[in-house]
Amino acid sequence: MKIDVVTLFPSWFDWFMEQRHVRNALELGHSLETVDLREATPLSGRQVDDTPYGGGAGMVIRVDVVEAALRARYDTDPLQLGRERRVIALAPGGRPFDDALAGELAAGGRDLTLLCGRYEGFDERVHAHLATDVVSIGRYVLSGGELAAMVVCDAVMRKLPGSLGHADSALEESFSEALEGAPEYPHYTRPFDWHGHVVPDVLLSGDHARIRDWRLEQARSRAGG
Ligand code: 6GU
Repeated sequence: MKIDVVTLFPSWFDWFMEQRHVRNALELGHSLETVDLREATPLSGRQVDDTPYGGGAGMVIRVDVVEAALRARYDTDPLQLGRERRVIALAPGGRPFDDALAGELAAGGRDLTLLCGRYEGFDERVHAHLATDVVSIGRYVLSGGELAAMVVCDAVMRKLPGSLGHADSALEESFSEALEGAPEYPHYTRPFDWHGHVVPDVLLSGDHARIRDWRLEQARSRAGG
């Protein structure tokens, strides 16, 4: 999978790309690259934003600037790019990002372009005509889409086959099908007794069927079921 991140702050991703699980994915042949929104802007002085029609506070990222960045990056007409890649605008009002969407993106076989907004966000025509999806990571407002893009990249990349140390660790984890979509079960390791708080007996029983049942039950009860 190739992931491109269009951003005003490419250097934010330097740290992210040095992280072990991301490097593992890159070594497997996946890619994560940044595209500086200012590089291809048709406006003078590297300008990318403008005041909102109708008035109000803040600045809005221009649709022609995003178009120019995509045109410079890809051979394809930016308006048709969604036919080949998933073009995801990150915005607080978008579709909530969850494990199902991460799985869909990881398994979809389409490369990704993540568009990071800043200021008051993108001109609505970016969402409507350049993006295939508008995605939010939660009900709060970040100062830009960069952290959200990292969240999406992290959740998607760890689902790519081979990118985790243990092939199975993504299978039976929180919200997975193996756990019926429930949050993960509790984990324990040594010491057995910590200030009188001991590890549940069942985990020391060696009875794998019982352990599996207990974990599923715990996962279910965490889901409120
Ligand atoms: Cl994707 N962007 C911004 N700016 N804020 C957010 C968000 C995205 N998701 C939650 N808050």
